[in-house]
Amino acid sequence: MCGIIGFVGNESACSFLLSGLEKLEYRGYDSAGVAIHDGKKINILKAKGKLAELGKKIEAKNLIGNVGIGHMRWATHGKVSEENSHPQSSLNNKIALVHNGIIENYLELKNEFDKNIFVSDTDTEVIAHLIYKYYDWTGILDNFIDAVYFVLKKLKGSYALAIMCEDFKDKIFAVKKDSPLVIGIGENKNFVASDISAFIKYTNEVCYLNDNELAVLDEKNINIFDENKNVLEKKVFSVDKEVNNLGKGNYDSFMLKEIFEQPKVIKNFLIDNSENFLDEINLDEKILDEVERIYLIGCGTAYYACLMGEKILSKLNLFVSAQPASEFRYSDLVLNKKSLVIVVSQSGETADSLAALRIAKKNGAKILSIVNVRESSIARESDFVININAGPEISVASTKAFSLMLSAFYILSCCLYKYFKIISHNEFLDLKNDLKEIPELVEKVLKQHEKIKSVAEKYLLSKNIFYLGRNLDYVIALEGALKLKEIAYLNAQAYPSGELKHGPIALIDESSLIVGIVTQKNIFDKTLGNLEECKARDGKIFVITQYENENSKDAADDIFILPECNQIFIPLLANICLQLFAYYIAKNLGRDIDKPKNLAKSVTVE
Ligand code: G6P
Repeated sequence: MCGIIGFVGNESACSFLLSGLEKLEYRGYDSAGVAIHDGKKINILKAKGKLAELGKKIEAKNLIGNVGIGHMRWATHGKVSEENSHPQSSLNNKIALVHNGIIENYLELKNEFDKNIFVSDTDTEVIAHLIYKYYDWTGILDNFIDAVYFVLKKLKGSYALAIMCEDFKDKIFAVKKDSPLVIGIGENKNFVASDISAFIKYTNEVCYLNDNELAVLDEKNINIFDENKNVLEKKVFSVDKEVNNLGKGNYDSFMLKEIFEQPKVIKNFLIDNSENFLDEINLDEKILDEVERIYLIGCGTAYYACLMGEKILSKLNLFVSAQPASEFRYSDLVLNKKSLVIVVSQSGETADSLAALRIAKKNGAKILSIVNVRESSIARESDFVININAGPEISVASTKAFSLMLSAFYILSCCLYKYFKIISHNEFLDLKNDLKEIPELVEKVLKQHEKIKSVAEKYLLSKNIFYLGRNLDYVIALEGALKLKEIAYLNAQAYPSGELKHGPIALIDESSLIVGIVTQKNIFDKTLGNLEECKARDGKIFVITQYENENSKDAADDIFILPECNQIFIPLLANICLQLFAYYIAKNLGRDIDKPKNLAKSVTVE
């Protein structure tokens, strides 16, 4: 989703802005632009489509200047066009700004102006006109900051803004609310960006802006103010440069690389978190004894991890409910200080998840987050944090983060089963031993990638693709179908297997593919029965199971046998198979695997 980069230094801004935007490409975008101060005025260039188009324009125009802002846009208000791309500006480019987020009251705000001054359909442009209107153009920094804060008070919604003003040729301004911004502190150069990867090549010293804090950056200084213009002392963090500046290695996509990284990252996570897990995350007796309700919230793949969490935590004698964050925030759930809300998010910045967290917190709930980005807003605002430590996940479609989210739920549930005396100490030790085997078992599945590839190649032209499973397998069906939609653009739907005959079976014919996930012993025959029903209607059946017997072989056109594994954990292995299945289908269809159309890695708007 939209990405921001700002640069101010003693070198030409263009190359820093372009390299920053390149690093943000993974977030998903449809147009890009830059604004550069040439010492006299602000010049703006924008282009639809890939970043290379903007690169060509910049080269042709030879933009000069050491101060600039850049943006890649993922359209929300107004179609994909140059006019709607950012930077947006006021008359004569006196104010130029880039924006992530959504201004909800922009139509109302536009009423302050003659309609003819607007050149775009965006919710952003009005901010530039407002600052232009309320700044007195005296060249006094204090007055400019006052004008910006005055305008911010009028805005409803979320924003991360990098702003330039013709009067301040050596400065950029940055301010945020509910959308992330991070500042990079370099030598004779400073940066602002929506994520660290945009400038990590140049500096790993960072500080994070909180809501309503305004930063003024020039080549040498960074001053950060609160709403009352008090100067703030901010903590500076050193982030891991290596981890944040990765390439694809020998893989043809980040997705494939991230799929194959899974044994290693799961192993590291399990080693780091095996002993006194509840103590390590500070989830102490006082809190656990009080808890009456557990909510699990997330979006997309993270939400499916929550569904798995719900299924395995339901063994506890507590109310447990997984909710998409976008629903949770608008529902009337019982939420109080006896509620534990588990927020799951790879990026830790997803707008709906963050908003849901804040609502829960406001109602007194305790917040436990499961995140991949340690310094993210969700992690920073939580009472307890499980850091899955997957390393950067660049591919838009989430793979390794999902496996680690499941691993986090596995450890958490084992510990809670023991704490609430659902299992004995010995049973707990057995579960922990089984958990330790997961990385090796994942490796075994990955070794059979050629087999999954050849199955995938058979089904490229399938129409009406169904993923079926019961209970834990149903969660994997949902995630498997999502992966196929995301990267192959095929219409795959997941159903609890027993539901198929209540409608969807009408769609099954010889062009249908049914992927059956059948890992749970007690319901093995039931799900196979449902697959047979599809076969009887000429559907093609791909079965993923750990049980190879006459029944499963008979039902299947193709079968993938998973290694033996504990019942609770085996769905994770089935999912690895489905990740590869989606990848090979997408690859054969020539899709842009790491940056699928219309999708964004980090969804920072509601
Ligand atoms: C986007 C991504 C998904 C991801 C979801 C939640 O839609 O494309 O892959 O699962 O956001 O992201 P989060 O960072 O909160 O896990």
